[in-house]
Amino acid sequence: MKFFIDTADLDEIREALSWGCLAGVTTNPSLYARTGGKLADFEDHMVKIAKMCGDLPVSAESQAKTTEGMIEEGRHLASLAPNIVVKLPICAESLAATHTLAAEGVRINMTLIFSAPQALLAANAGARYVSPFVGRFDDIGEDGISELANVVTCIQNYDWTGKNVDDEVEIITASVRTPNHVTQAALMGADIATVPFGALKKCLKHPLTDQGMASFDADWAKVVAAQ
Ligand code: E4P
Repeated sequence: MKFFIDTADLDEIREALSWGCLAGVTTNPSLYARTGGKLADFEDHMVKIAKMCGDLPVSAESQAKTTEGMIEEGRHLASLAPNIVVKLPICAESLAATHTLAAEGVRINMTLIFSAPQALLAANAGARYVSPFVGRFDDIGEDGISELANVVTCIQNYDWTGKNVDDEVEIITASVRTPNHVTQAALMGADIATVPFGALKKCLKHPLTDQGMASFDADWAKVVAAQ
């Protein structure tokens, strides 16, 4: 399973990229707002992220509300950098926009997916990525991981050849809160987890690793002192 980072913060992206294990970035309007960014700077910000990421996919979300608006904005966002993926929230308008944009070779990440039928509709319309949310289910006392499992099975049951520019649909596990979400997503074969930087750092750490490093250091100090 690949890791994307779910943030629009340039410092977080830079640091996560330096780890050498990042395969992409997802952003959304809330994440951009959190950076303090202004509307006028949105496109430049997305281009900055896209450049930092080389050829890794970077999702930039359209705020258009009509099919025509999504097509126009989608074409524009995709023209900003070759690695920009257009993110659209699942709805009738975005399915129609996806159908048009996918035929033009634009990669779409269909977001705010909360059910397998939504994911199947998105993939059939030509979405390159589908993003089922996990944490927001947990937030309302439901089980995000079992909902994710339905999406994974339903998407992986079928061949998506001819549906989009890459002939494949990848599942981005979204709204990830914990290392256990990452484990469960990988166990069931989700292609990608997009993880906020805080949760990514939690994935890196384990108390037994810290303890082990401390005891190795202490023992090595004895070896050095015995010279
Ligand atoms: C997906 O691409 C979204 O940006 C994201 O995962 C939303 O997660 P949240 O529930 O933490 O806002």
